[in-house]
This record gives sequence, structure tokens and C-alpha cells, in this order.
Amino acid sequence: MRFDVLTLFPGMFDSPLADSILAKAIEKKLIDVRAHNLRHWAAGRHQVTDDSPYGGGAGMVMKVEPMVAAIRDLREQNRNAQVVIMTPQGRRFDQAAARELAKDGRGLVLVCGRYEGIDERVHQHVDAEFSIGDYVLTGGELPAMVIIDAVARLVPGVLGDETSAAHDTFEDGLLEYPQYTRPAEFEGLKVPEVLLSGDHGAIARWRRREQLRRTLQRRSDLLDRIELTPADREMLQELIGAE
Ligand code: ADE
Repeated sequence: MRFDVLTLFPGMFDSPLADSILAKAIEKKLIDVRAHNLRHWAAGRHQVTDDSPYGGGAGMVMKVEPMVAAIRDLREQNRNAQVVIMTPQGRRFDQAAARELAKDGRGLVLVCGRYEGIDERVHQHVDAEFSIGDYVLTGGELPAMVIIDAVARLVPGVLGDETSAAHDTFEDGLLEYPQYTRPAEFEGLKVPEVLLSGDHGAIARWRRREQLRRTLQRRSDLLDRIELTPADREMLQELIGAE
């Protein structure tokens, strides 16, 4: 799957892509990430990409012409790609959005803003707007990298074990169950007995209960959005009763 990033700071993408799973995915040609400098599409000797806002006010606004010229070019290069822009005003990015963007490996063009914002007319040239949370960052580069990471790991083959994304937190709408590895006891804290039992049915039931318990305690808002099985409902009732 191909990712094209439009940014004033292409160097920001070097190190997150140079290690670990994403580096391997690039090496295996499962993903191809290209960061493009917006200045390349800016006119004149000074290659200006921003200007002061009409109507006055502090700061600078990113100009429409270089951005639209770049988006047009990148759409040509990455034919089926969805063009998305990073902005705190966008739709909240979540696992469902990651799945949508990864679907069919269509490709992505990620547009990163800086300064006070982007000329509103650029927004007509994009397919979606995403925010990674209700806080303001210095630019869209980190959000773009977050989206690349979340989408890339859903591209078939990127995660060593094909099933490992299926068990992720949020993939079934619940938080993940707790994990343990050796030693069986650390400073008086013991691994739950059932995990040492070898009883796979009992382990699966314990894990499901822990998923429900965590989600109830930490993110009860998620419970309203998913379909629970009758067995889940029963466990949830017990957990609520025990509180
Ligand atoms: N640009 C600045 N802050 C952002 C955020 N929270 N999400 C997406 N883009 C941004």
C-alpha cells in the first residue's frame, strides 16, 4: 500500500520509519511511504507556502495554490488513493477509521498543515479530515505518522502473525485483557492461576471477563457501541453486581 505525505518537514518521517515493524514492511515492499516537500509546488524564487490571513489576526495561513497543485500531482501518482487532511477539526481517528483507510490497500495521501491553518478552499480537494484527539499539536506531521502506523499494521503481511491485529484492543470494541509472562510470581504478585491451568476454555472465559471488566471500569462508553453476546451480558451483570 502506498502512502504519500505532503509536508513542509519531510525529515520528520525518517526515524519513525527506520525501525521495527514499519521498516521491515518497507523492506518487504508491503508499504511504500514517500514524504514530499510542499515547497516543491510553491512558485517563485522564495517558494512561499504561507501568507497572512484575510481579515487580519495572528499567525500565517497555508496558501491554496501550492497545496492544490501538490494534491493534484499526488492523486496522479497514487491513483486510487484517498486524500486526507490532518486537522483538529476533523473526524476523530479511531480503529474503525484505520480499518476503512486500510481497506483494499487503496493508498493514502496525507496532507499536513502547519501555522494557524490551511486556506479553507484546500478542503474541497480532500476526501476526509481527521483529528487524532482533542488537543492541538504544532502540525499535522505527528497525526499523519499515527495514521500511517495504525493503517500500515492492518496491511496483510505487515504483522508477522496474521491474527495478531484481530485480538487488538478496539478490534472487537473492547479493551484488551491483561497479559503476563514469566516469572509466575514477582515481588509477591502472582499470575492468575487459571492462566497456568492449561484449560483453554477456562482461559478464554477469564480473558473475556477481564476484557469486559476493564472496559466497564475504564471506558464504559465503548459498551454502548458494541453488540454483546448473551454470555457477555451475563458476565457484565455479574461484574456490575460485584462492584
Ligand atoms: N494538527 C494539530 N493538531 C492536530 C490534531 N489533534 N489532530 C490532527 N491534526 C492536528
